[in-house]
Amino acid sequence: MKLLPIILAAGQGTRMYSQLPKVLHTIGGKPMLQHVINSCRNLDVKDIAIVYGHGGEKVKATIADDTLKWVLQSEQKGTGHAVDQARELINDDLVVIIAYGDVPLIKAETLQSLVDALSGADLTVLTTIMDDPKGYGRIVRSPEGTIESIVEEKDANNEIRKITEVNTGFIAARGKQLKTWLAKLSPDNAQGEYYLTDCIALAVEDGGSVHAVVCDDPMEVQGVNNRVQQAQLEREYQKNQAEQLLLKGVSLADPARLDIRGDVSVGQDVFIDVNVVFIGKVSLGKNVVIESGCVITDSVIGDNARIKANSVLENAQVGNHCDVGPFARLRPGAVLADKAKVGNFVEIKKSTIGEGSKVSHLSYIGDTQMGVGVNIGAGTITCNYDGVNKFKTIIGDNAFIGSDSQLIAPVEIGEGATIGAGSTITKDAPAAELTLARSNQKVLKGWKRPEKRLKD
Ligand code: UD1
Ligand code: CA
Repeated sequence: MKLLPIILAAGQGTRMYSQLPKVLHTIGGKPMLQHVINSCRNLDVKDIAIVYGHGGEKVKATIADDTLKWVLQSEQKGTGHAVDQARELINDDLVVIIAYGDVPLIKAETLQSLVDALSGADLTVLTTIMDDPKGYGRIVRSPEGTIESIVEEKDANNEIRKITEVNTGFIAARGKQLKTWLAKLSPDNAQGEYYLTDCIALAVEDGGSVHAVVCDDPMEVQGVNNRVQQAQLEREYQKNQAEQLLLKGVSLADPARLDIRGDVSVGQDVFIDVNVVFIGKVSLGKNVVIESGCVITDSVIGDNARIKANSVLENAQVGNHCDVGPFARLRPGAVLADKAKVGNFVEIKKSTIGEGSKVSHLSYIGDTQMGVGVNIGAGTITCNYDGVNKFKTIIGDNAFIGSDSQLIAPVEIGEGATIGAGSTITKDAPAAELTLARSNQKVLKGWKRPEKRLKD
């Protein structure tokens, strides 16, 4: 049977104290709702429905996925009412899974186990044991252990409040049955809401059986109501990410001091030092070393490359055996061929650094195409911008640019050319020649330093 996950995401999230709808708050750089969608995508689904709330246009626009079925719940009258808004999508022969957009760590396998358990039941509910069950719906079982109902905290007596098995909210049921129960819900309870949880008692009334799948990791089913819980889940998520890397053969100086906000792929024997952040899609080749304090976004780093401390890379490509940093900044479009070296306080933007070329100290290289074996002296700057337009600099193979030179683009430095230190180069420099563009040094013979005038 095909599955129909219905993800409830209409909640206001007032306790987040935020302009942003709650389900768009992130874990690992991705909206919480996106995590839940991704887990559902790993199941054999027909459709995925999202119940979104008033003002939830922002949710739709951010998730930007029109393969999803977006269902508006304009007024929030409870979880049962929310599910009922998706009634038109609930075909009789689908298995419906109810999930929550603010429970981001839920795993596909757990959802699948809820579905699998349906083979012997009419309704399955994911429960967990909590030391402090306050606020949750309690699972009420008969003396024989079969589930009879779920009672919300606000409707519970003292006896029921002592129960530590709670409803995580996730349930699964066949479409046909679920629709008959939804039709029978009433808001006759302490909160005046249509409780989805009342389906459990309705199923039992019909002579059906309700089975629980107990989730043994409360973090997986923890919802986010405030930023404390969000921060807790962020740490849990990061811990899991770090573990994944360790299990793939990466060495981490400290698994608790690495943040991954996206996807990182790794070769063999990578070492990552403390306080490194990866954002977006990052690929690390084998034997790569990332020293402490680096922030690496959407970049590809080749085998045996070393990114030294405190370097910041964004949309960069680093070849094999490259050496970058410390304190280097590779901006979008920086492409380093194999064995290139970019040293401290060097910024590179939209430029190709040829094989074995070196930009070792204090430089800005922008809109530049650099050949192989080039040496760029300390403090060299490509002046690529006249305040309105950007221009290119071309540097031929094996050129040597003396320290503190400015290359005023558009300009081309020929192969094997040498530029004398301190030159301001405004015209093309020929191959294999020395070009100098600086004022001649002169000596004023017999010149004396001024002396301090005496006060009268
Ligand atoms: C619900 C369960 C409770 C369970 C708890 C787990 C019910 C009646 N109670 O309680 O048994 O222990 O979750 O966290 O189901 N939502 C909508 N539209 C609505 C109401 C809610 O989309 O009209 C969404 C919310 O955005 C939220 C989720 O459903 O993501 C749960 O709603 P919430 O009000 O937090 O339910 P609880 O009272 O916590
Ligand atoms: Ca809740």
